[in-house]
Amino acid sequence: MKKHQSNQQWLDEHVNDEYVKKAQKEGYRSRAAYKLLEINERDQILARGMKVVDLGAAPGGWSQVATKMVSERGQVIGLDLLPIDPVHHVQFLQGDFREDDIYEELMTQLKGEKVDVVMSDMAPNISGMGTVDQPRAIYLAELTHEFALKTLKKGGCVLVKLFQGGGFDEYVKRLRNDFEKVYIRKPKASRARSREVYVLAKGYLN
Ligand SMILES: C[S@@+](CC[C@H](N)C(=O)[O-])C[C@H]1O[C@@H](n2cnc3c(N)ncnc32)[C@H](O)[C@@H]1O
Repeated sequence: MKKHQSNQQWLDEHVNDEYVKKAQKEGYRSRAAYKLLEINERDQILARGMKVVDLGAAPGGWSQVATKMVSERGQVIGLDLLPIDPVHHVQFLQGDFREDDIYEELMTQLKGEKVDVVMSDMAPNISGMGTVDQPRAIYLAELTHEFALKTLKKGGCVLVKLFQGGGFDEYVKRLRNDFEKVYIRKPKASRARSREVYVLAKGYLN
C-alpha cells in the first residue's frame, strides 16, 4: 500500500474510532487513556496516595488517569521526548529516557523515595522494518525494567507496552524472576490488528 493511502486509512479510522470520540467527550487527551482505564479496572494497579512514574507520557492521557486515581495525596511524574501541556498535580520532564542525564534527572525528582507503579507506554518511531523496530521496543522495555528494579517499593508493579515478536518471550521470562505474577493484557482500546500488548508485572519481590 502506498504511504499516502495508509495515512488516509489511519486518518479515516481515527476519525471514526469510538475511543477517539469518547476521549474528546470525556476530556482525555488520547484514546490511549482507555487502555490504562481498562487494565486498571481489571487489575487494580492504581490507588489513592500512590507514587507513579509515567514513561512516554505525551500527550498526557495516562497521566490524567493516574492523577485521578492517586488523588492529591499521591504523586505522578511523567516523562516524554515531547513537550506536554500541564496536567493538574502532574510533574512533567522532557527528554529521552535512553539518555543518562534525563534518567538521572528523574531519579533526582524522586528524591530517593520509592514508587508504587512504573508504567511505560513508550514506543519507538516505527520504521516499518521489524528487524529495526522490535529491538528498539525491547530496548525501551529493558530500560523500564531496570528503572523499575531501582525505584519500586517491595510489592510494587510495572506496566510496559511491548510488541509481540522477537525477544518478547525472553523479556517476560526475565520479569518473572523479579515479580510474583506477570500478565499479558490486550485492552479493547488496543487495535486488534496491532501486535501491541501490555505486560503487567505485579508484586515486586525486591
Ligand atoms: C503512544 S505515546 C504515549 C501515549 C500516552 N500514554 C497517553 O496516554 O497520552 C508514546 C510516547 O512515547 C514517547 N517516547 C518514545 N521514545 C521515548 C524515549 N526514548 N524517551 C521518552 N519518551 C519516548 C513518544 O514521544 C510518545 O509520546
